[in-house]
Amino acid sequence: MTLGEPLLKLSEEEYCWIRDLIRNYCGICFDSGSKFLLEKRLSGQVRLHQLSSFRDYFYFLKYGRGKTEELGTIVELLTTNETYFFREDFQLKAFQEEIIPELVATKGKGGQKELRIWSAGCSTGEEPYTLAMLVLEGGRFAGWKVEIFAGDISHRVLKIARKGVYSKSSFRVTEEKHIKKYFEPLDGRQKIKDEVKKLVNFSYLNLLDTARTNLLPKMNIIFCRNVLIYFDHQSKRKVVESFYDLLATGGYLLLGHAESLMNVSTSFKLKHFKNDLVYQKPR
Ligand SMILES: C[S@@+](CC[C@H](N)C(=O)[O-])C[C@H]1O[C@@H](n2cnc3c(N)ncnc32)[C@H](O)[C@@H]1O
Repeated sequence: MTLGEPLLKLSEEEYCWIRDLIRNYCGICFDSGSKFLLEKRLSGQVRLHQLSSFRDYFYFLKYGRGKTEELGTIVELLTTNETYFFREDFQLKAFQEEIIPELVATKGKGGQKELRIWSAGCSTGEEPYTLAMLVLEGGRFAGWKVEIFAGDISHRVLKIARKGVYSKSSFRVTEEKHIKKYFEPLDGRQKIKDEVKKLVNFSYLNLLDTARTNLLPKMNIIFCRNVLIYFDHQSKRKVVESFYDLLATGGYLLLGHAESLMNVSTSFKLKHFKNDLVYQKPR
């Protein structure tokens, strides 16, 4: 929006229409205190499309020719992409020191030397690259096929993830030894090395689009951290159900530390590891 241009007024009715449309599209829900936020972030879009009100903008989002692209733009304007390497280290410890050895032992015994991990809502890539570094650190996977799938609804963050070049704020809790081992300096920033990069496969994926998520192969571990906190109850249930279907028996679901499946699903069992409590699809 041009500086100094007054915000367009969003009526209560228009607010509810647009809020529901966004929620149905990507699961993100806004409470009654977010009207001003939508007014502020979306007024520029209304003007950009030369529309005169949020009412017209709503109809454009619902029926207009460019509605899908515009919903994509809205997602870029309204989502939180905050992330960094080695976030929530107690969970990562459970992953590296307890979950991985267990899966390696059980799968290895059956001769299935394959491990699939999904970082659902991967943002700019710090989470899946952290998982790839931890896989390499353990040194347990000689002769295995390890694949890390990473998906997000934002094309902007996926572009950054695929480039794999990061500045200081991504390394706020990263140990120097990991930076030295898995990155190379590039113009004052750090570029992820190819040995890490090649383990991760990035793709555009809307978690609510279960017709597409169902096409993913069975996963052994799903990380979906700090994503569902922004979702409404119904969308959470839908996404968690699809996680359940996608997980192999005995597979693990790791949510953010402030998130739980309470009132969302009773299908998983809570497993007590030394470092963390983790959801498991029962055997
Ligand atoms: C706060 S970031 C979390 C990143 C990472 N998981 C972490 O914990 O550091 C949330 C990410 O979820 C993505 N997201 C939100 N709704 C989504 C949806 N319906 N499908 C896929 N990704 C979504 C956002 O684009 C954003 O990049």
